[in-house]
Amino acid sequence: MTVNVLFVCLGNICRSPTAHAVFQQLVDAGGLRDVIAVDSAGTGDWHLGKAPDERATRAASLRGYDLSTLRARQVAAIDFQHYQYILAMDLQNLRDLQQMRPADYRGELALFLNYGASAEREVPDPYYGEGDGFERVLDMVEAAAAGLLHAIVLQHGLHPTRH
Ligand code: 4NP
Repeated sequence: MTVNVLFVCLGNICRSPTAHAVFQQLVDAGGLRDVIAVDSAGTGDWHLGKAPDERATRAASLRGYDLSTLRARQVAAIDFQHYQYILAMDLQNLRDLQQMRPADYRGELALFLNYGASAEREVPDPYYGEGDGFERVLDMVEAAAAGLLHAIVLQHGLHPTRH
């Protein structure tokens, strides 16, 4: 069985692609590529098919993450059939997802930062901000991604495979 994980923000060009790439790298490093599948999506539809924001791509690249191959897509009702973990970057994303949630969804729909160690609940939208917004996103995402991987490995009893 594969554990499918979907990160969701508003535009799918800043926060959720960052989470996607950071978590994918952790999954790969842990030898878990065959058992954990990762994707990201946005609740909005403004950027469909677009590559991630250049500022997000550059900031991530300086920490060794590659966002360049990702393309924005919109979250859809069918995602609730596929993903056992649907993780929202902020409370508005979570509310939008809760509106879409089928009554029989048995997976985990939650704030991504629930898996981080800090008291912060939301990854702030860096799109219109100035300064170090993208660095903050990376800091928060890296911390929560490690917590998420730990939780999934424990919950599902996963073991690494060699490649
Ligand atoms: P994201 O950031 O949700 O982290 O991808 C945003 C990107 C674009 C917009 C808003 C947030 N926008 O309004 O176009």
